Amino acid sequence: MSTDPDTTDADTDASPPDRIVDIVDEMTLEEKIDFVHGSYDPAELATGYVAGVDRLNVPSLSLVDGPMGIRAVPSTAFPASIALAATWDPDLAREFGEAIGEEARGADQDALLAPGFNIIRVPQCGRAFEYYSEDPYLNSRLAVGAVDGVQSAGVMATAKHYLANNQEADRHYVSAEIDERTLREIYLPAFEAAVREADVSSVMASYNRINGTYAPQHRRLLTEVLKDEWGFEGFVVSDWWATHDGVAAAEAGLDLDMPGMPVYDWQCHGSTFLDLVAALPDEAWFPKKDLAEFVSRPWQPANPNPNVLDESPFDDPLREAIEDGRLEESILDDKIRRILREMARFRVLDGEQPEGALDTPDHHDLARRIAERGTVLLQNDGDTLPLEGSERIALIGPHADEPKVGGGGSSEVDPTRATSPLDGVRGRLEIDGSVTFERGIEPVGDASMHDSPLPEIDTPWGENPRIEEAMRAAQDADVAVVVVRDLSSEGADRDLELPGAQNELIAAVAAVADRTVVVCNTAGMVTMPWLDAVDAVVETWYPGQEDGSALASVLFGDADPSGRLPVTFGERAADYPASSEAQYPGVGLEAEYSEGVFVGYRHFDAAEIDPVFPFGHGLSYAEFEYGGLSVETETETEGAADPESETHAGPTATLTLTVENVGDRPGRDVVQAYLAADSSVPRPPKELAAFEPVELESGESTTVELTIDERALAVYDEDDADWVVEDGAFEVLVGRSSRDIRARASLEA
Ligand code: BGC
Repeated sequence: MSTDPDTTDADTDASPPDRIVDIVDEMTLEEKIDFVHGSYDPAELATGYVAGVDRLNVPSLSLVDGPMGIRAVPSTAFPASIALAATWDPDLAREFGEAIGEEARGADQDALLAPGFNIIRVPQCGRAFEYYSEDPYLNSRLAVGAVDGVQSAGVMATAKHYLANNQEADRHYVSAEIDERTLREIYLPAFEAAVREADVSSVMASYNRINGTYAPQHRRLLTEVLKDEWGFEGFVVSDWWATHDGVAAAEAGLDLDMPGMPVYDWQCHGSTFLDLVAALPDEAWFPKKDLAEFVSRPWQPANPNPNVLDESPFDDPLREAIEDGRLEESILDDKIRRILREMARFRVLDGEQPEGALDTPDHHDLARRIAERGTVLLQNDGDTLPLEGSERIALIGPHADEPKVGGGGSSEVDPTRATSPLDGVRGRLEIDGSVTFERGIEPVGDASMHDSPLPEIDTPWGENPRIEEAMRAAQDADVAVVVVRDLSSEGADRDLELPGAQNELIAAVAAVADRTVVVCNTAGMVTMPWLDAVDAVVETWYPGQEDGSALASVLFGDADPSGRLPVTFGERAADYPASSEAQYPGVGLEAEYSEGVFVGYRHFDAAEIDPVFPFGHGLSYAEFEYGGLSVETETETEGAADPESETHAGPTATLTLTVENVGDRPGRDVVQAYLAADSSVPRPPKELAAFEPVELESGESTTVELTIDERALAVYDEDDADWVVEDGAFEVLVGRSSRDIRARASLEA
């Protein structure tokens, strides 16, 4: 249930409190119109700003990016969302949510434009690092944790991007063509859970179209499903410049248009976009020339936000429609009530919001813990890791002396401190071992849309890096650690090949080194042509400001690399479900989701394709044994929750098993339970139904209980427009990954 700070009966009661009714009654049409679109923030901090109504003592509302830290001011740069997802730990997601919520309050902001949890349908998705998973169940549990956490700090959370913004290619126009069952089973569950279980304050309508209709104008998704069916009482905000037709969007259920002004008036990082462009260095990743064109008039680029040069479609167009009777004023009133309801609930209205905490040591520590826990040890031949600390290490990589704080786009954060892999390893080797650092190849750059200044890098580029020097360093060392990165940003999709000459660098080093460890700072899978030649591979995603300290903890075994893959790592793009052009990126601006529910591992299993590293995979420095699996089915009355208020309509079965750490180190495992159904409709060979992280000392064992909800058994029946549990037996598969099943049992529905 929600843990928001001011939950009153009004939250569940459709009738708003008197104060809100009075405000709406007293507002002029002009004031109402101004309250449903963004405007200029005098403090130049908010990403989106709704001006208050002084006359009625209604304060302003400030919304700020984003999922990995607060963009407006220097703040804690947390690991990428996919790293958080790799922890498989909803409690940690809640702790993270609370911390980032406190940071938002510390920057005097009322709403956080996060979390984002679109399904990672294609590995190329340029925002995969900002999302959680390919699996709807894991996605939902993390979404509920994060939303709950943010809101417990007294900050409105925003569930984004609703819906099916699963690719950045053509994101402003592409139509995701999806059947109803697939929408219900794959793309909607996390949003549904965020609404029903965490009472999320706001939902952001995405740029793309869904079955031909733009998200902010999608009446079925915004009004019929979100508001009527799920009982969402908060407000729907548009993505920035996403609204095309103001009147259609108002009727469809959009409540707030953002940012409400043309791009040249908008500001972020405390300056207008025009000033930002002028300040960009010529070598910025996003070419300055393109950005200059982006903001200059007249301008007709190939793939812009369509309304980027316009005033808000919720301004004159709405006023005129109301004045000439094309739009009921009551529709506008409902939007105001929704925004005011959230402002009351989060104490914005009475100015009694909680204090915040920005950039604190506690938050830095949490950022490090998430980075450690989200690190996935993909391969560890011959127990190459952990390192002992007395080794001679060659640290190699074009950016191994730079922290990989995040990806590009609206989630960029400027931390006040950050550690690089070089800092981390050096710090650890000060006493016994030694480290030499070589770039080996030219830098591949960073993906920044805003050119966020990073903390000073002490080794300037400029020397002419040579692969031979890296090889010599590797040869002279006991172990070579090669740090590589991809480039990923909002606004464009990701290349699955490591950029620059990084593949060549790894191959050259592995050919001469005694032992080679590859550290991947990537948004997801990359092709690994060198995999057989290296000993260990560590996926650290984009670790945020604690990059180096977390990496050192894991490399030297202070922390168990307890991350598990929240996405499948296939060998190549063609192995993934959406591999035809019609599916991705689409033809004629339509992307056919013809793989249906067979997304991620569901497809790899059904098509019998071996992934390089399966969904749920991750090694540990400890070793675990599973035993004694039993299944207890519950009757409908026992513990059944109210189906109206819960996504997961009550527990249906409880799995019990013992897990023992038979290794000689402490470790953390994630017990995963999948269901295999015998169904009258095509169902994936297995679907994640429950999971539970456990932490065990060497030699310790524990009993783990996993609850399977009714929803996990059900399929969505399009004809009945409802969830149906078919009679029959399910096989329960419990394991350490989707391809490492250790125990089986059966469950009768
Ligand atoms: C992104 C959103 C973000 C907004 C405001 C958009 O481009 O898609 O995720 O919150 O900008 O920066």
